[in-house]
Amino acid sequence: MASINADFVWMDGRLVGFEQATVHVLTHTLHYGLGVFEGIRAYERADGQSHVFRLDDHIRRLFESAHITGLEIPFSPEEITAACVETLQANRFRWGYLRPLVFLGSEAMGLGARDVLVHVAIAAWQWGAYLGDDGLKNGIRCKISSFNRLDPRVNFPKGKICGQYVNSVIAKREVLKAGYDEAILLDTQGNVSECTGENLFMVKAGHVITPPYGAGILGGITRDTVIAIARDLNVVVEQRPFTRDELYIADEIFLCGTAAEITPVREVDDRRIGDGRPGEITRLIARTFFDVVKGSTHTHPEWREGYSLAL
Ligand SMILES: Cc1ncc(COP(=O)(O)O)c(C=O)c1O
Repeated sequence: MASINADFVWMDGRLVGFEQATVHVLTHTLHYGLGVFEGIRAYERADGQSHVFRLDDHIRRLFESAHITGLEIPFSPEEITAACVETLQANRFRWGYLRPLVFLGSEAMGLGARDVLVHVAIAAWQWGAYLGDDGLKNGIRCKISSFNRLDPRVNFPKGKICGQYVNSVIAKREVLKAGYDEAILLDTQGNVSECTGENLFMVKAGHVITPPYGAGILGGITRDTVIAIARDLNVVVEQRPFTRDELYIADEIFLCGTAAEITPVREVDDRRIGDGRPGEITRLIARTFFDVVKGSTHTHPEWREGYSLAL
């Protein structure tokens, strides 16, 4: 695994060497996708300390995803929280990305998944800008996917559920192949939903607009952070449905997520957004976001779970 630079993975209650963190080919989740996961970032601060961003909220969502799917995580939220920090410390990561994964084991096959144990693994690695450094700075090119986002009559958009990500992977591969950076998915009513691993915001006439929480979107923790930051900055936030043509005539668009952080969008379906560069409000929100997540401001201390490395 050339791109992953980690020494340890936490598995079912203990740290194991990176190469030992393996599963059997009959792992139930590998076949049928019933499992849940999280994506969390840790940041190194200017003062030399490190912290995990909104760790409690991510662990809460992990347990909510498990609850939605009926999986019982055999550890408490406090144990998983401590294990996340332990994984970063064991790998001596001052910053990095955490991937807790709850999955069904290889004890039995069959869709009923009876007598199959629930396992938990936590991996960490140092993941840079998910949509590229240039994307963060200058914006990316998006395309509306030919696939719709998860329909709540069929799937569970509020859960980060392994098998549901086939929808994201297919949409992402489709637009990458067509030469774009990221896919925007519409819901089955035709409204703009979200991207493959990010929530979406547009700016029009100074207002920041995003689909409502009740739409079939993931309740992104970065989305929630952006809404709080915008309100702190006295920017009006509207949560309402909108269609793809409203996106085309937006003044600014940006995506947000733990992996993508705040990534401006400069083009949708070959139509330039605004003047084709990250807009003023996007840049203001992004700057404030990075100050908050990197801890270079004292606002929202409740979002930063500090940890240190015993070196
Ligand atoms: C489909 C989807 N939407 C939105 C997000 C953004 O969520 P968050 O900001 O909590 O990382 C993610 C990433 O977790 C995602 O997978």
